Amino acid sequence: MNVLIVIESCFGNTQMFAEAVGNGLTGRGATVTVTPAAEAGPDALDGVDLLIVGAPTHSRGLPGPASRRSAVTQGANPVRTGVAEWLDAMPEYHGRAAAFDSVTGTSFLNGSAAKKIVKRLQRNLVPVAASDSFLVGAAAGPPVDGELERAEKFGASLA
Ligand SMILES: Cc1cc2nc3c(=O)[nH]c(=O)nc-3n(C[C@H](O)[C@H](O)[C@H](O)COP(=O)(O)O)c2cc1C
Repeated sequence: MNVLIVIESCFGNTQMFAEAVGNGLTGRGATVTVTPAAEAGPDALDGVDLLIVGAPTHSRGLPGPASRRSAVTQGANPVRTGVAEWLDAMPEYHGRAAAFDSVTGTSFLNGSAAKKIVKRLQRNLVPVAASDSFLVGAAAGPPVDGELERAEKFGASLA
């Protein structure tokens, strides 16, 4: 099974969760590629059986230009373009998909980038098998204890 994980990550936490999700899948025999959305070209989905999209939760949803700038003022790496733009221009895709986000809490007030990803995928007529949120301790991270392990299990469950 060929798996593509498309992400954006300002402080590196979503990247860590993506690697953990990928490890879970690799452990079940999948071939996994993790790619920043900004680097996923038009052919990225060729031969992909499972697409996983992950992003940090910003302002209760997906990062945009203003929230990315705000992240940079808090010490994050600049991200030119991300998951929202990639989903807008997503090539035709007929496989399965899943979504995840990183988030500082799981109450209604925190919001969820994953929920927005699911909606966008469904709007593109892509069936979504599962989605989950993984906790960080603060905006810059790190992941809360046990969350990387939970992300790995999430990956394994998708195999
Ligand atoms: C501009 C900005 C807005 C944020 N808004 C939210 C939010 O609405 N809810 C939340 O739980 N966390 C929020 N956070 C915390 C992010 O979810 C956290 O920085 C992210 O999960 C870290 O992932 P990353 O290292 O991949 O960027 C925000 C962070 C930034 C920088």
